[in-house]
Amino acid sequence: MKKKLIAGNWKMNGSLASNEALLRAVLDGMAQQAPACDVAVAAPAPYLAQVQALTAGSSLAVAAQDVSAHEAGAYTGEVSAAMLKEFSVRYVLVGHSERRQYHHENDSLVAIKAQRALAAGITPIVCLGETMQEREAGLTEAVVKRQLAAVIHLNGHCISEIVVAYEPVWAIGTGLTATPEQAQEVHAVLRSQLAAATEQPDRIRLLYGGSMNAGNAAALLAQPDIDGGLIGGASLKAPDFLQIIASAK
Ligand code: 13P
Repeated sequence: MKKKLIAGNWKMNGSLASNEALLRAVLDGMAQQAPACDVAVAAPAPYLAQVQALTAGSSLAVAAQDVSAHEAGAYTGEVSAAMLKEFSVRYVLVGHSERRQYHHENDSLVAIKAQRALAAGITPIVCLGETMQEREAGLTEAVVKRQLAAVIHLNGHCISEIVVAYEPVWAIGTGLTATPEQAQEVHAVLRSQLAAATEQPDRIRLLYGGSMNAGNAAALLAQPDIDGGLIGGASLKAPDFLQIIASAK
């Protein structure tokens, strides 16, 4: 049985002082009750060294929020996969809807970022999901399949090494959550798409993200194809994050 994965995405939040308090509280909680799932936190790039130091020797994995599509060179402001690797980064988000929306990242760029991560031995967490407009137009399945197809096309040979996070854009930071049934429906579509690309589709963890919190996590995580969560706001509060971790059995 694969373990579920609960990953916190801090987004552009935190400070040296608040990160330390948050991490110490999460690590304390994990020491008191050993999680049945894998746990990671995706910190802003300048804090990766801090997270690496504070989590050393623990089962809390370091994650990053983005990676460059380039290997190295004259790309001011970019952070390469090799650099992330030096800070013990185990997972990196690629294609988060906020990157797609505000930084105009498209499907093929996201696929290249996933490829860079894999080449550096970092697991990409490929984020995808539809907008409310797309859902209302009946396009949910077509959109998520298109987004995943680009990643499969470029990374087919190692597709079983990725993690996928289904994050309906309308559920992110809005307090609106997909119902467990809505999320499961999309996850089942993604699973069957992966089944056409790999003999081991069940090895791939499919996370749900979008206003997941201490109150709704258990019901979402009970769905057959939901293998974890990608948590924004609730990952900034240690008791809430710990409660979600405890829900992931
Ligand atoms: P919220 O949990 O704040 O809705 O954010 C979800 C998300 O975007 C995680 O990547």
